[in-house]
Formats: sequence, structure tokens, C-alpha cells
Amino acid sequence: MNYVSISTIGKHEGKEVFIRGWVYNKRSSGKIKFLIVRDGTGMIQGVLVKGEVDHKYFDLFERLTQESSIVVRGRVREDRRAIGGYEIDITTLEILQIAGEYPVSPKEHGTEFLMDHRHLWIRSKRQFAILRIRNDIVNAIRDYFNSNGFVLIDAPIFTPAACEGTTTLFETSYFDDKAYLTQSGQLYMEAAAMAFGKVYCFGPTFRAEKSKTRRHLTEFWMVEPEVAFMDLNGDMELAEDFIEYIVQRTLGNMGNELRMLERDTSILENARKPFPRISYDEAFDILKKEKPDIVWGNDLGANDETILSNRFDKPVFIHRFPTTCKAFYMKSDPENEKLSLSVDMLAPEGYGEIIGGGEREDDLDKLFSKIKEHNLPVETLNWYLDLRRYGSVLHAGFGLGLERIVAWICGISHVRETIPFPRLINRLTP
Ligand code: 4AD
Ligand code: MG
Repeated sequence: MNYVSISTIGKHEGKEVFIRGWVYNKRSSGKIKFLIVRDGTGMIQGVLVKGEVDHKYFDLFERLTQESSIVVRGRVREDRRAIGGYEIDITTLEILQIAGEYPVSPKEHGTEFLMDHRHLWIRSKRQFAILRIRNDIVNAIRDYFNSNGFVLIDAPIFTPAACEGTTTLFETSYFDDKAYLTQSGQLYMEAAAMAFGKVYCFGPTFRAEKSKTRRHLTEFWMVEPEVAFMDLNGDMELAEDFIEYIVQRTLGNMGNELRMLERDTSILENARKPFPRISYDEAFDILKKEKPDIVWGNDLGANDETILSNRFDKPVFIHRFPTTCKAFYMKSDPENEKLSLSVDMLAPEGYGEIIGGGEREDDLDKLFSKIKEHNLPVETLNWYLDLRRYGSVLHAGFGLGLERIVAWICGISHVRETIPFPRLINRLTP
């Protein structure tokens, strides 16, 4: 038997094919029965006409429930009004298993119910579109770095020390010792940049985020490039070139999926470099007009980011944050010691921060004092200080949160739908 995938059905127009899949939906209209089948690559409507097929298949049709697994045989016919442009005139039907009453029916369900049934929910149309877009974005990220001379260097998951502050560390026992799940691969990428020049890592990172927000997961994927001899300006150039590439490529490849999500793509089309750049001080002046009691030196909150990003119709960089609100490894601005050579990229439409990065402190003594100021255990960072002892050079990099960019590109409000099996403060299952 020649089974075909629904995604390639157009190549078989006029021919009889077999499709293996699951019942998405069915309905009857007089002597015509309609069956929507999905097979993991797409969906197609099958049509059964009374009198034209053996009536035993009509009886089988009546038994079909949502998500029953089936094999359908039929002739492919072009139909411009149909979901994928084709329909299939069913000639035979075989049931593999009749599904029990399926919990995720087409009616509306509450979020917690859907999250409890995530293992089934991912079969539905919207989740199918989002996770296929995620897959395509991952490919775009890898292709970008592969074609720009970067070397992939995997960072460890078990780490001895904090990278992004001690309040969000997940601790685990490690034989007679303890370890932390990585918050970021950055420190290892700095070591790797001194060995390979242009490197990146891409993997899961963990933060014990105790607040419930629409953009925080406890386990999320981060891609982190790091480049020797690159300054803050170069870092921003790399970030905008990278984001433009991802967005424009997704628009080109994922048109069907974006339509399934009813995404208005005009803002995405506009995501072309250069992206506007404003300093923290400029951002502060803008915010001060709307929030008179805002305090200089604090990090920007979600609401501040929304106010700022709404002023632009493309992603925007905020650079040179006060040292007080950034991590220990940030290099101070030689023109103003109170500022750091840091940068965030905010996505438009209220999505806020998708990238964080900057230039790294490359002076041994300054880095040592910063580690002390942040109360971090020097013993566990001695290896990191070696990078400043042996041929220290200017270098910079950034981290992009995968789920944040997927959420923005898909136009969905919460990151929990952008990862196959989300981990949140109150959720460890399925
Ligand atoms: O700004 P962050 O904390 O920067 C770092 O971790 C740096 N060490 C990266 C580097 O320079 N190599 O995190 C980077 C990005 C954020 O901009 C955001 O997109 C994402 O990671 N992110 C999260 N995404 C989902 N859930 C969370 N809890 C996240 N925390 C950060
Ligand atoms: Mg950040």
C-alpha cells in the first residue's frame, strides 16, 4: 500500500491514495458524510457519498469518534475552498482503534483543564501551528549561526554557581555535594569564545521564578552567542541581523501556520534592521512622564517595557542599564561607572524583553570585586577568572529566550503554549 502524507497530497491529484491518521471531526449532510482527518503533517476533508461507496463504510463512519485512529483510502481532488486546497473522495475506511470519549472536544475549555491535558491538547489545530512554528524557528536559529561562522559549544546543565542571581537557582543534590541547574550557559560561552572566537550554545535553562506571569517559565530554552573582540555596538548589530533573519524566514516558511493562528503579520514584516536604539537614561525620561515616581537604578518592569515598546513598530534596543540592576559580569561604561555596557531587545506589541546581553567585564581586578560585591562564592568562579588571567580580551554576547520570540511571532499572549510541555511554578505534569 502506498501511504501518503497529507502535506504532500497535491502531488497525488487524481490518484487513489491511503492516508493513516486520526479523526479530527466529522459531520453529515443528508446522504453526504464529511470526515476531517489529520495525520501529523496536515489536515484534509474526506467525503463519503451514499450510493457511491459500499454501505458498510457508512456504518463504520457512524462508529467513528474524535481521535479514533483510521486508514482512509480515496481519490485526491483539488478544491480551492478546502483547508489545504484538496479533498479526498473516500472509497474505503479501516478502523485501527475507536477512541474513548475524548476529553479535548472542540468546545471551549478552561486553561487549567487544557494544561492538564497538554499531552492531548498538542493534537489540536492551534497547538499544531504554534509548535510547528517553534520547530521552524529552531531551524532558523541553527542555520543562522551555521552560515555565519559560529561553532556550537554545548554548555553543562549541572553547574556549581549562579550566573543570573542567586534568588532563582534550582538546587539539587550532587553525590555528597550540591549543584544548581543552569540559569544560562554564558560563562561557559565566554571560555569557548576564547578558544573558538565565535560560539553559541542552545539548550534548556532553569529558573525558580516564583511569580506567575505570562512570560516566565521555570524551564525555557535559550540560545546564547558569544564573540571575542566584539563590543556593545557589534553585539547590537549581531542581534538585529539575527532577529531580522529569524522573523523574515518564518514569514516565508510558515505562512499557513501563521494564517491558522490568524496572526496579523504586518508588524513582523516591518522587523527589518536597523532597530531603534535608546539608552536607559532616554527610556527613563520617557517613562518619567507617565510614571512620575519611577526610581532611577531599578530594572524595567513588564509595564515599563510595554510603554516603551509601544512607541515603536519594530523591536527596540535599550542599552546602558545602571550597574545596580544587572548581573556581576557586566562591564562598566568607561564614560560613566554607574552604567553597564548592557543591552536588552524589546519586541513590539507589548511583548517586552526577548534578548538580554552586553559586553563582559574583562579586567581581572574589577571582575573580582564585582564577584565579591554580589556575594558570589569566588571558589566556584575561579575558573572563570582564569579567562581574565590568560589573554583577556574585549568580548560580548547575548541570550535570546526561544519561547519569548515564538510567543511574539505567533502573536499569543502566554509562553505556556510555546513549549511542548511547559514547566511553571504550579505545574510539573504532564
Ligand atoms: O536577560 P537574561 O537573564 O540574560 C542572560 O541569561 C544572559 N546570561 C544571556 C547572555 O548574555 N548570554 O535572559 C536572556 C533571555 C531573556 O531576554 C528572555 O528572553 C529569556 O532569556 N528568559 C526567559 N524566558 C522564559 N522564562 C523565563 N523565566 C526567562 N528568563 C529569561
Ligand atoms: Mg534580562
